[in-house]
Amino acid sequence: MNFDEKIDRRGTYCSKWDTIEALYGLSPDDALPMWVADMDFRPPACVQQALERMINHGVYGYYGDDSANREAICWWMANRHGWEVDPRAIFTTNGLVNGTALCVETWTEPGDAVVLMTPVYHAFFRVIRAAGREVRELPLALHDTRYEMDFTAWDAMMTGSEKMLILCSPHNPGGRVWTEAELRGVADFAKRHGLIVVSDEIHHDIVYPGQKHIPMAVATPDISDRLVMMSASTKTFNIAGAHVGNVIIADEKLRKQFATRMQALGISPNAFGMQMATAAYSPEGAQWVDNLVQYLEGNRKIFDAGISSIPGLRSMPLEATYLAWVDCSGTGMSQQELLRRVEKHARIATNYGHTFGKGGEDFLRFNLAMPRAMIEEAVTRLQAAFADLQ
Ligand SMILES: Cc1ncc(COP(=O)(O)O)c(C=O)c1O
Repeated sequence: MNFDEKIDRRGTYCSKWDTIEALYGLSPDDALPMWVADMDFRPPACVQQALERMINHGVYGYYGDDSANREAICWWMANRHGWEVDPRAIFTTNGLVNGTALCVETWTEPGDAVVLMTPVYHAFFRVIRAAGREVRELPLALHDTRYEMDFTAWDAMMTGSEKMLILCSPHNPGGRVWTEAELRGVADFAKRHGLIVVSDEIHHDIVYPGQKHIPMAVATPDISDRLVMMSASTKTFNIAGAHVGNVIIADEKLRKQFATRMQALGISPNAFGMQMATAAYSPEGAQWVDNLVQYLEGNRKIFDAGISSIPGLRSMPLEATYLAWVDCSGTGMSQQELLRRVEKHARIATNYGHTFGKGGEDFLRFNLAMPRAMIEEAVTRLQAAFADLQ
C-alpha cells in the first residue's frame, strides 16, 4: 500500500485523465485532474486477487449465488457502521446513479417533484430531470463554513407535489457528516410532507477522525416504511468502473416494488463487480480504508493550509469525503476570470459549483484523492495563479 506512488493512468480509457483534453482543453501530460470523484490509487490487494482468480479461471459466464456478497455487505455494515442489515434486503444495481434513477422511477410519476438539499451531487439533478420529474431545491444554510439544514424555511417552500427526498449523507460537496439530530429532522420533515427518503451514503467510509457517520436506518428506524438506503464499495475502494451499488430496503412492501422495477428494466449484476465488492468488504479491505483515510487527512490539511494562504479563497473544513469545496466569492472575480486562473494558469480541472445547484455558484470542487506530491503541486500552482492577490 503506497498512496504516494504516482500511477500513470493516461491512455487507460479512464474518465479522469483521458477526457480532460476534450472537456477542459487541458493536456493530460501536464494538467492535474481534480474533478471526477475517483482516486489515483490502486484498490487493496484482496480486490486485485479476486480479479486475478477470475482471469486465471478464464470463463466469464453469468453470475449466480450472491450469498457471499450479501454476507460481506452485512459484515461491513455491522462492523464499520453499527448497522445490522437483513441479507434479504439487499439489491445490487449498476451503481448508485442507477440506484437513484430506479428509485425515482419506482416511487414517483412524471411531473412529481423530488427534493434535494442544495448544493448537492450534480447527477441527482440529471437523473430526476431526464425522467420528467421536477427538482425542488431546498437551499442549505451556510453558517460560517458549515452547511446546516433549515426545516422552517423548507416547510414554507413545499408545494405538495414533492414525493421523494434524496439525502446525501455524508454530504457531497460540503463534506458534512450529518448529526443524529439533523437526521431525525430529515425524518420528521419527510413524515410531515409524505416523502420517501432515499439516503445516498456512498461516502460513508471516508470520514475523518473525530466524526462519526450514522446510517439513516440506525438514526431513524421509525421511518423504515419510507426509507431506502444506498451505499457502495466503489467510492471507498476506488472501483467505480465495476459499477455496482447496494440498495438496501428493510420494508417488505417497498422491497417488492423495487424488485418489480428492477425486473421490468432487466437489471442484473455484473460478475466482475460482484466479486470485487465481495473481496473488498473484508478485514483486509477495512485495514486498507483506515490507512486511506489517514492519508487523505494529510492531503486535506496540506490543501486547506495552501488555500487559506490565498486571499479570497476558503476551503470548507471537510468532516468526510475527499472532495474539497472551495468558496471563491472572496476574490470578487467572475467565473470566467476564476477559470482563466485555475484552468489556463494552474492547469487544474475542477468541478464547477453551479452544477451542484443553488448556492454552489461561487464554488469550485477539488478532488484530493491523489498522491501527496500532486496536492503540493496543485497548491503551488494555485498560489502562483492568484499571486497578485497576496
Ligand atoms: C453522492 C454520490 N452518489 C453517487 C455517486 C456515483 O455513484 P455510482 O458511480 O455508483 O453511480 C457519487 C460519485 O461521486 C456521489 O458523490
